[in-house]
Amino acid sequence: SDSTPLTAAEYDFVIVSNRLPVDRVTDSDGVASWTRSPGGLVTALEPVMRDAEGAWVGWGGQPDLEIERFENDGIHIIPVALSAVEIEEFYEGFSNDTLWPLYHDVISSPAYHREWWECYVKVNQRFADAAAAVSAQGAAVWVQDYQLQLVPKMLREKRPDLTIGFFNHIPFPPYGIYSQLPWRTQIIEGLLGADVIGFQRVADAGNFLRAVRRLTGYQTKNPVIEVTSSSERPRRVVARAFPISIDASSFEKLARQPHIQERARKIREGLGNPKTVMLGVDRLDYTKGIGHRLQAFGELLAEGRVDVQDVTLVQVASPSRERVAAYMQLRDEIALTVGRINGDFATMSHTAISYHHHGYPRDEMVALYLAADVLLVTALRDGMNLVAKEYVASRFDEGGVLVLSEFTGASDELKKALLVNPHDIDGLKDTILQAIAMPEKERSSRMRSLRKRVLENDVARWSNNFLKTLEQARASRYDRLVPV
Ligand code: F6P
Repeated sequence: SDSTPLTAAEYDFVIVSNRLPVDRVTDSDGVASWTRSPGGLVTALEPVMRDAEGAWVGWGGQPDLEIERFENDGIHIIPVALSAVEIEEFYEGFSNDTLWPLYHDVISSPAYHREWWECYVKVNQRFADAAAAVSAQGAAVWVQDYQLQLVPKMLREKRPDLTIGFFNHIPFPPYGIYSQLPWRTQIIEGLLGADVIGFQRVADAGNFLRAVRRLTGYQTKNPVIEVTSSSERPRRVVARAFPISIDASSFEKLARQPHIQERARKIREGLGNPKTVMLGVDRLDYTKGIGHRLQAFGELLAEGRVDVQDVTLVQVASPSRERVAAYMQLRDEIALTVGRINGDFATMSHTAISYHHHGYPRDEMVALYLAADVLLVTALRDGMNLVAKEYVASRFDEGGVLVLSEFTGASDELKKALLVNPHDIDGLKDTILQAIAMPEKERSSRMRSLRKRVLENDVARWSNNFLKTLEQARASRYDRLVPV
C-alpha cells in the first residue's frame, strides 16, 4: 500500500510495539513496498488506531530501515531502525528465543545469553526515546508486548508527565517458571514504570502480582501495587486482565458478501466436496500444537475412524521467525508429518491434508472460515488466540464447530466451544469425531452463544476498557499532585 511523508508533530496518543502494522518487503526486482504484518497484535490494534488520532512507533521488519515518519492508510507511522545484529540479538534472540519460550511454559528451552540481554536493554531504550520524542505534554502512551517490557520505566524516567499503559499479548508465566530468568527483577521493575499493566487472563495477572511480591518489597492489594522508591513519591500501578478481541463486525460483514460465500463454495469444490472440511490456521509456531493436531488426525485415518473421502484437513501455517532454530526445525517436522499422512492416505481424488505454508489476505481467510465445518485450535499455550474469535465472528450462519484448547486465553470466555487438552491425543481424537458428528441443532446453539460473546466483547470494548482505566490512573495521579 502507499505511504505519504509526514511533517514533525507531537501526539496525545501513542502506540509503541516492536512490529509496525505494516511490514517492509522487497521483491526479487528490488522494489520495496509495505504489506500487512502477521500476528494477533496487529489484527487487534489496527482498528483501534484507525479510530484514534495518534502515532504508532515500531520497527518495519527489515534491517537498517532508516526512514522518516509517514502515513499509511490513515495511520501515522514512526519507524524505529534495527541493525542486522540487533534483529539477531534483540528480536530473534532475547525476544523470541528467551522470553517467548519462557512465557509459553518452556515448551521449547529458553536460551539465556548475556549479550542478548544487553541488546534488549539497548533496543528498549531506543523505542522509549522514539516514543518520548513524539509524545505531547501529558500524552497517553500505550506500550505493547513482551519485546518492550523495559520501555515503561525508561519512558517514565525521561517523561514523568506521560500516562503510560502496557499490554502483554502473550501469557505471563507462573513464578516457578518465570524465576528462571536471570534478569527477572529488571523486567518487573521495567513493567512497573507503567500506570496500568494489562494481561490476557486473570491467571496471567495473578502470576505477575505473585512475581512482584516475590521480587520486590512492594505491597499489593489486587489489582493495585504500591510502588515505592527513595527518589519518587509512591505510585499506584494497576495490574489486571483485559482479554483482547477482534473487530468482530468487520469479519461478519465480509462473511455476508456473496463473492466471499461463492469463494467458500469454490474452496470446498477444489477439495473434492468432502462431507467435512476441518481447518487449522496458525503462525508456524511450536506453541500452536500443530503436530498434536496432525497426529490425532493421522491416527483417526489409520484406524479407519475417518475416511479420506469424507474428511479433509486444511492447514494454513503462516511463516514466522524463520531464522530461529526452533522454528526451522518445526517447519521440517510439520512438512514431514503432512507428507507422511498424505502419502499413506490420500487418493487420486482426495487429499488428507491441504497444507499451505503462507499467509492469506483477510477475504480469503473469511472464505476459508465459511468453508470449514470444524476449526481446530489446539495450542499448547496461547495468550488469547484470535483465530478462534475470527472464526466465530465470521459464522453468521451459525454453522461450524470450534474445537478449542484449554490452554488458550480464549477458552476462559468461549465456554461453548468443545474444549480439549491437546496433550491427550485420545481425548482430542474423540472430540474431533464429536465435532464432525455434531447434530445441527447443537451446533447452532453453541455457535449462537459463542457469537454473542465475541460480538459483544469486541476490540473496541477492549481498548475502551483499557484506556478508561488508564484515564482513571491519570486522574488519580493528578489528584495526588494537587497540594493539600
Ligand atoms: O502477539 C504475539 C506476537 O508476538 C506479537 O507481538 C507479534 O507482532 C506477533 O505475535 C507476530 O510475531 P512477530 O512480530 O515476531 O512476527
